[in-house]
Amino acid sequence: MNRVDLTKDFSLSRIVHGQMRLAQWNMSAGDLLKMIEELIELGVTSFDHADIYGNYSCEAILGEILNLEKSLRNKIEIITKCGIKLVSDKFPERKIKYYDYSFDHIISSVNNSLSNLRTDRIDLLLLHRPAPFFDPEEVAKAFTLLKKEGKVLHFGVSNFTPGQFEMLDSYVEEPLVTNQVEISPYCLEHFENGNMDFFLRKKIKPMAWSPLAKGRILNPNGENGKRILHVLNEVAEELGVSPVEKIVYAWLLRHPAKIIPVAGSGRIERIRYAVDALDIDMSLEQWYKIFIAARGNELP
Ligand SMILES: NC(=O)c1ccc[n+]([C@@H]2O[C@H](COP(=O)([O-])OP(=O)(O)OC[C@H]3O[C@@H](n4cnc5c(N)ncnc54)[C@H](OP(=O)(O)O)[C@@H]3O)[C@@H](O)[C@H]2O)c1
Repeated sequence: MNRVDLTKDFSLSRIVHGQMRLAQWNMSAGDLLKMIEELIELGVTSFDHADIYGNYSCEAILGEILNLEKSLRNKIEIITKCGIKLVSDKFPERKIKYYDYSFDHIISSVNNSLSNLRTDRIDLLLLHRPAPFFDPEEVAKAFTLLKKEGKVLHFGVSNFTPGQFEMLDSYVEEPLVTNQVEISPYCLEHFENGNMDFFLRKKIKPMAWSPLAKGRILNPNGENGKRILHVLNEVAEELGVSPVEKIVYAWLLRHPAKIIPVAGSGRIERIRYAVDALDIDMSLEQWYKIFIAARGNELP
């Protein structure tokens, strides 16, 4: 599978596997190891995590596999995030959910992630969400130290606007390499808020979370969802493609910003649909047909 360069010496697989639901998949270590090996075989080598996934448990589940099969670490890229503090039995002193981008929290979060993941380095660390209380000097200080210590190789953000991205980028020594945002026919926000133009201007490849809107695209309950699925099915038929989720991935992959879908299924066959979508030749008209169905009205 081809890859996407985020810098001249750092790339991700064109499809990233999202492991937010890893704890829910209830897989045995053997089954998970098999799935990860199959993903690597398919060319899906980049795995997306966050400290908080599965109530702070998902990183450690992957860590167990990396410990079981030590050769895996050099074949994959680990993405993880920090900054959200959840109310959790793991942190009984916390009374509310809030965000923390202090130097101390970033450093301790990364140290926890490294120990959970049983690795000495994170390939890409993302700040999970923009925050109303945010000191970019603290963040820059933490990034500089983590880079110097070799604990984090690259940095990025998630759910940031162009303004928030540029603000932080102006403080950090290492350029921010991506912004992971929600993009799907159910979420067109980033085509409209200036982010997509910003990505193109800065040559930043965005990662798209929830590309299938958490699976809702395939099982719509409202009128909008039904209209979108109807058009996706029409395009699938025109292209002789099935199942229809391949069309959603093809729609994301077709965009010139080089959107990187973060596919969140726990079933290998469904990740294969994302990989198969790389070979789909969607016309511009078909791309717009889906965009127009998603926005709900004709273009001006
Ligand atoms: N940065 C952020 O703020 C943020 C936020 C949310 C997510 N993320 C990342 O993005 C990744 C992907 O998000 P996501 O999991 O919401 O992505 P998604 O790929 O849109 O949704 C995956 C979900 O859809 C279900 N699904 C897939 N195909 C289906 C079908 N044909 N019928 C019914 N259900 C189907 C999957 O179930 P099966 O497992 O049974 O296939 C799974 O529960 C996450 O793992 C995480 O890494 C980041």
